[in-house]
Amino acid sequence: MRHIISPTDLTVSELTDLLNLAEKIIQNPKKYSEVCRGKKLATLFYEPSTRTRLSFEAAMLNLGGNILGFSSADTSSAAKGESVADTIRVISSYADICAMRHPKEGAPYVASLYSSIPVINAGDGGHNHPTQTFTDLLTIKNLKGRLDHLTVGFCGDLKFGRTVHSLIYALSRYSSIKFVLISPEELRIPTYIKKELLEANDIPFEEVRVLEKAIPKLDILYMTRVQRERFFNEEDYIRLKDTYILNSRKMSLAKEDMLVLHPLPRVNEIATEVDDDPRAVYFKQAEYGVYVRMALIMKLLEVDLC
Ligand code: CP
Repeated sequence: MRHIISPTDLTVSELTDLLNLAEKIIQNPKKYSEVCRGKKLATLFYEPSTRTRLSFEAAMLNLGGNILGFSSADTSSAAKGESVADTIRVISSYADICAMRHPKEGAPYVASLYSSIPVINAGDGGHNHPTQTFTDLLTIKNLKGRLDHLTVGFCGDLKFGRTVHSLIYALSRYSSIKFVLISPEELRIPTYIKKELLEANDIPFEEVRVLEKAIPKLDILYMTRVQRERFFNEEDYIRLKDTYILNSRKMSLAKEDMLVLHPLPRVNEIATEVDDDPRAVYFKQAEYGVYVRMALIMKLLEVDLC
């Protein structure tokens, strides 16, 4: 039995197979419409979500399976003080696989220690969001044609943005990747990522403050929302929330084939005028999330298509 807690829990070769399966599903979704008949996915969401929870549920329904779960801690027995360990022991007898989102870093890992079904981390605090990363990789591979030889800019809240952390770890395994980390001083990438991953593996990166200066060199621009829910005080959030707003003027400085990704939800950091730019692929990215999660559920449930 496998759990997916971190974006590197799949080897590069397994990840290639996963993305290839997702592409096959995109080409012929009907072929997969019954492969999980009789199987159940539990979505245990202790934190708000639109895309991740609903795309997991759509994925299981598309595979012919069933879904159950809760969408907030308040509507589960967590509100009465139940531990994650006890909850997952019980859910293990109700479902075949589960996706868990939790505000505390490491909660899905703790769940995996007590679970007898595969646990998928659907986002844990400011730490990791591996299935968003698989979605991002499918988007880049399909729309850019490669996962190597890329200069990737991350812009916004690089401190608390778990999608950023996960994608940096995942992309670092491909050759000739350079990172441009665009953020205010207060929202820089955590030191452990710089020291243990980037510097330790000689992966080129630079930290800059000004988006306009960085944008001309990028193949991918990954915009992020400032994560209000992780700030200790509202004043800091208000001061930093509109540091970056991508608009048509800034897009005019970018390469003609640069792609703009965003895990969504968006607040102010991308002006809606950018949505019509063919380089803005964040809604396509959200769509890919269903297919990659279908592929992941199949892999973890060891569905054999023959
Ligand atoms: N990208 C993402 O995780 O979105 P949700 O918070 O809506 O699930």
